[in-house]
Amino acid sequence: MEAAARWKMRNLVFAVNGQRFDLPTVDPSMSLLEFLRTETVYKGAKLGCGEGGCGACVVLLSRYDLVSRQIDESAVSSCLTLLCSVHLCSVTTTEGLGNSREGFHSIHQRFSGFHASQCGFCTPGMCMSLFSALRAADKSGNPPVGFSKLTSSEAEKAVSGNLCRCTGYRSIVDACKSFSADADIEDLGLNSFWGKGEEDSADVKKLPVYERDAVKTIPDFLKAEIEESRNSILQSRDEIRCNKFTTNLSGSSCSWFRPNSIDDLQALMKSQCDDEGQKRVKLVVGNTCSGVYKDLDEYDVYIDLRNIPELTMIRRDGSGIEFGAAVTISKAIEALKGNEEDELDRQLQSNENNVFSKIATHLSKVASQFVRNTASMGGNIIMAQKYPFASDISTVLLAAGSSVSFQIDSDKFNVTLEEFLEKPPFGPNFILLSIRIPSWNQDDPNNGKSAEESDFLFETYRASPRPFGNAVSYANAAFLAQMSAQKSGQLIVEKLQLAFGAYGSEHSIRTRNLEKYLMGKSITTSLMLEAIKLLKETILPKEGTSHPTYRLSLVVSFLYDFLQSISIRIPHTMVEGAHCKSLLSSKQTVKFSGDYFPIGEPIKKIGAEMQASGEAMYVDDIPSPKDCLYAAFVYSKKPMVLVKGIDFKSTPESGNIISIITINDIPDKGINIASGSLFGKEPLFPDPLIQFAGEPLAIVIAKTQKLANVAAAQAHVEYATDNSASPIFSVDQAVKSSNFFDIPPYLIPRQVGDISKGMSKANLKIITANIDLGSQYHFYMETQTALAIPDEGNCLVVYSSCQSPMLSQGIIAKCIGVPYHNIRLITRRVGGGFGGKAIRSVPVAVACSLAAYKLQRPVRMYLDRKTDMVITGGRHPMTINYSVAFSYDGNITALCLEVLINAGISEDISPILPNNIAGDLKKYDWGAFSCDFKICKTNLLTKTAMRGPGEIQGSYIAEAIIEHVASTLSIDPHSVRMINLHSLKSIKMFYEKEFIEPEEYTLPQIIEKLVVSANFKQRIKDIREFNGHNRWKKRGISCVPIVHPLYVMKVPGKVSILDDSSIVVEVGGIELGQGLWTKVKQMVAFVLGKLCKDSGQEVMDRIRIIQADSLSLIQGGFTAGSTTSESSCAAVRLACDILVDRLMPIKETITSQSDSFSWSSLISKALFESVNLSASAYYVPDPNSQSYLIYGAAISEVEIDLLTGGTIIFRSDLLYDCGQSLNPAVDLGQIEGAFVQGIGFFMLEEYSMNADGLVTSDGTWTYKIPTIDTIPRQFNVEILNSGVHKNRVLSSKGSGEPPLLLSASVHCAVRDAIKEARKELFSNGGGAEDEDPRVFQLPVPATMPVVKELCGFDNVETHLMKK
Ligand SMILES: Cc1cc2nc3c(=O)[nH]c(=O)nc-3n(C[C@H](O)[C@H](O)[C@H](O)COP(=O)(O)OP(=O)(O)OC[C@H]3O[C@@H](n4cnc5c(N)ncnc54)[C@H](O)[C@@H]3O)c2cc1C
Ligand code: FES
Ligand code: FES
Repeated sequence: MEAAARWKMRNLVFAVNGQRFDLPTVDPSMSLLEFLRTETVYKGAKLGCGEGGCGACVVLLSRYDLVSRQIDESAVSSCLTLLCSVHLCSVTTTEGLGNSREGFHSIHQRFSGFHASQCGFCTPGMCMSLFSALRAADKSGNPPVGFSKLTSSEAEKAVSGNLCRCTGYRSIVDACKSFSADADIEDLGLNSFWGKGEEDSADVKKLPVYERDAVKTIPDFLKAEIEESRNSILQSRDEIRCNKFTTNLSGSSCSWFRPNSIDDLQALMKSQCDDEGQKRVKLVVGNTCSGVYKDLDEYDVYIDLRNIPELTMIRRDGSGIEFGAAVTISKAIEALKGNEEDELDRQLQSNENNVFSKIATHLSKVASQFVRNTASMGGNIIMAQKYPFASDISTVLLAAGSSVSFQIDSDKFNVTLEEFLEKPPFGPNFILLSIRIPSWNQDDPNNGKSAEESDFLFETYRASPRPFGNAVSYANAAFLAQMSAQKSGQLIVEKLQLAFGAYGSEHSIRTRNLEKYLMGKSITTSLMLEAIKLLKETILPKEGTSHPTYRLSLVVSFLYDFLQSISIRIPHTMVEGAHCKSLLSSKQTVKFSGDYFPIGEPIKKIGAEMQASGEAMYVDDIPSPKDCLYAAFVYSKKPMVLVKGIDFKSTPESGNIISIITINDIPDKGINIASGSLFGKEPLFPDPLIQFAGEPLAIVIAKTQKLANVAAAQAHVEYATDNSASPIFSVDQAVKSSNFFDIPPYLIPRQVGDISKGMSKANLKIITANIDLGSQYHFYMETQTALAIPDEGNCLVVYSSCQSPMLSQGIIAKCIGVPYHNIRLITRRVGGGFGGKAIRSVPVAVACSLAAYKLQRPVRMYLDRKTDMVITGGRHPMTINYSVAFSYDGNITALCLEVLINAGISEDISPILPNNIAGDLKKYDWGAFSCDFKICKTNLLTKTAMRGPGEIQGSYIAEAIIEHVASTLSIDPHSVRMINLHSLKSIKMFYEKEFIEPEEYTLPQIIEKLVVSANFKQRIKDIREFNGHNRWKKRGISCVPIVHPLYVMKVPGKVSILDDSSIVVEVGGIELGQGLWTKVKQMVAFVLGKLCKDSGQEVMDRIRIIQADSLSLIQGGFTAGSTTSESSCAAVRLACDILVDRLMPIKETITSQSDSFSWSSLISKALFESVNLSASAYYVPDPNSQSYLIYGAAISEVEIDLLTGGTIIFRSDLLYDCGQSLNPAVDLGQIEGAFVQGIGFFMLEEYSMNADGLVTSDGTWTYKIPTIDTIPRQFNVEILNSGVHKNRVLSSKGSGEPPLLLSASVHCAVRDAIKEARKELFSNGGGAEDEDPRVFQLPVPATMPVVKELCGFDNVETHLMKK
């Protein structure tokens, strides 16, 4: 303890948005995000994942460097940054940029004006990532007036690590690019700064002004404080006052040290032994490791390494570059890229195959900018050595011949990185000091040859689902070779260093045997084949590694590409993300109609600026009431077992548990219910048999959310497995045991036409083909959350992020056994729902309510991402068997299907699936059509509504069948689509319930228009040409139409005018980010505009839409099915009509008496005359027009990489019939967002589970939603204004779900490209003998391993053998 006693005890001092914080004690395990969200008023930074994978928590961290007197600042993920590490730093959150009182920042305004914020949950993080990029770009020199020096390409990358599930990113990219001086502002997308017509052209002056220095990121007082204590700080070895936050503080003290030298560090580490033995010590740099390996461990001592100069130095000399272990990846990239003005850098970079710049490029794909800014090089190398972490850095440094130095006690060691990685994990006194990369400059002594005599090549490779990074690779590699030319002209391998990693190994390795084999030889085809054979014997993915064969095929591809390029001196082709060099471009074509002004105007989404500035309140932003407690679920990891016991006592966090709620806590009058629907209900707790893995078993209550989460995660559940029945997981098992849910007769799709006639008419038949479709997780950015507050008389006020307050209210009341009116359920806004908060939000609200009722204290719960993914469920997986009959020209005459839907354990909304699937499947004229559905009950978590439930599958099944027919006939799928497209007659026959006027059937016109505008026919020719000339890249294109029935919702609405003439509106529909409130506001202004002089403009700014409250507005129903916005508009229209009827006579009186008339004078007079200024209405659609059809089409073009299986979406053109759009900006956002979510379903998102049915895709590490680098590089959307449809709400049509189905065009284009690849593969002798290369099923999602498998895992070998 002696050494520790010499430390200077300090309070933790830092600033947030200019506010000084001086904390006498801190829990050192507390993250900056937790502090901001629980201890300050700044709620802008959001918790989306807690693992560095989403960017919702990004803030700017500024440090004042005493030596240089410069501010060093960068974006960081506040969820991983530990609070103690911000000592003497300044934190800027989005609130620090601006707000509604003092004025929003231009970033907030542009996000809003470019319609780049929907639910808004991601927006503060996006704003801060952009802000930090602008700060970095404009640090020195003067940017051009009104602009930043940030380039368009940097602007695009600035937010590439941030996830958004709503917008589809295009609008976000435009908002970011609007700051770049090199952007052509004419090309920026639809925005509210300049209008839509030619007379109102793009003009930078119309953009909210960007002022570089408008925000002070480091307050003067902090600078002054730092300056004042300059000397003591420079030599400081600090200990921050710490205490662990426990219920019992005795014995819970903990320390955070900031040593300033290696000697101090070493002494400190040595001293960490007391009477009870070695203390648990954690060395910390960026702490990002905790995002990878969730650290549930407790530590007694934290040691921050960033104050030690030896660990933060970067040393360069002619022989190489050395990084202190605590140097961040961002700083290392900067150093590796070098400074052109520096002579030494120029020398180091002189070779065009420069090792350093290639390493820098590779490192820039590690994680995301906001992780790289704090993550250290040393931390990464240690993770690679200690865990089996799929490190990129260790692989590239290994190939570059790097070495490391480390210290154990006072002994220093210098070893090669290869030796270091091979060592067993080190003990407690180990310190990694530095990493050294030698120079490979051609004139360097390392080389030994002159440039004329040798060819030197260094390449790095990685294959991951996201080309810009933010996804670990399936495999990576880096190769260094030196070739020398013989007199004969032959190139001989003189030196070779081959490193591979991330393929499922313990750590990155050098393949020495292979290097030895190749050395001294000339690269020939047969040598390559031998080398590949040897490689395959060496690279052995560990048991349990996912996609082992794919990973193996990747390393083969990497090696092939490299050997190929050194043998024939061609540049290597496999540059990940190379396509992303071309910027995203887009076009939005929107027709505006002034018929119902201000309806039809692309006005900004209500509250978008507040969402950007962090002022918008989501449930978890509501300040915790006094005595609030926090809840977390303990869930089962096994199905069909009994709980023998749950052991909390022996866990480290057990002392923090305040209560445990189980089935026994349900009041006598209540029932064990978690959720339910029209079709059935599900229990809150097992009674007694656990039905599925992921089933909640108990609720842990603690003083903070973190303590509750950790205690729940540490709970040890003992299962009784004896005599338990076997679980049913698959639909086949369910069919065998007839385990089905009922389908109400009115939801059973009817047969169309005569099947046997259709079958007998055909020339050809495909009998019993099969399609399997998997699940998809909603990945709303805000996980499930609720806050329940006890009120007088056994009442509860519950705030819930949900899509149906009415449903939650009823279920809570049933669970605790009180009348419905005792429960006030309030929902203001939801951070994304996509169907996942319709039924699945209820268990969380019920759990909080039950705990609050029992404990009579407020209880809140915000699910961590993992629990959310494990217990919430997602889209329905299904198996489809079909028989189809057709003629030689592709005309389909009959289609029979059997659809087996995996519903999981309870009904939820599953019984509506058959109707939904059939509704979209009928988009083609199948001649005759019949479909048999089974809803299978299985021991999996309940599957639920997700955007386009059943509909995306139905529409896709139709396309898969069309493609199958086309492949069988060897004809182009587009002609099969066209020949089977509905005529007006056939569509009326297939869609009996929907009202179809001839002019309403716009699909043929849509396709015709799109084929021309997207230049479809010419591009097909170009693609064939391209494919003929390219061996390892193939392109494909596809045009997919959709027909989608929508059912109009019943919704209540209430409009009240207050004494000051402001207007307050309540609607049953919930604002989920889809712009419902904005459309409602426009409708209120439109109708009340009849009472104004200026068609509603006067009232527009007086309208406020308020939160849904289940006791204020009843019968709210569900916000689902794409039509709640228009129904909510219809409801307020009815309410406004009532007000207009009441107020019109007064208006007429006023205007007849005087010329001066205003809205306020009208309301004053009405008040005087005691007019009722509040009106409610319940909109129930006319049964004859309750449903209608949506039409649209999309053309997508892709390129696949046959070596990696990667897909690039080059271009997508969408044409969508939105009727007369209520707000084209909002609808455009819905269309783009839905399309990109569909890309996730078809291309990226694998929602996997283990053998017990427990979800294993349980975080941002394992579940990859689309990011900026995976959307179409060219993204064109046109909204068709299809005229008048009197029976709908002001001729509008919904836009929330149907555009999702258009994304099948991407999948079909990939199939087109794969066909080309397979033709070549088979002609080279690949594939099975009895297989037809054109006929194959392309699984969903068509991930990289899937595409590669179909193109041939061994396509390299097949190609070489053929040569
Ligand atoms: C979202 C995300 C994505 C990522 N993607 C990638 C990727 O694509 N490719 C890739 O290669 N990596 C990736 N990483 C890993 C990332 O590079 C590492 O987490 C990071 O470099 C670790 O550095 P750190 O400073 O945060 O380490 P910390 O978390 O602070 O420390 C890591 C470990 O090393 C120990 N330690 C740190 N420094 C020393 C030292 N000097 N001596 C002894 N022990 C020490 C710590 O005690 C701890 O056990 C990703 C990480 C995240 C969070
Ligand atoms: S919450 Fe921090 S990155 Fe997701
Ligand atoms: S707006 Fe981006 S997640 Fe909702």
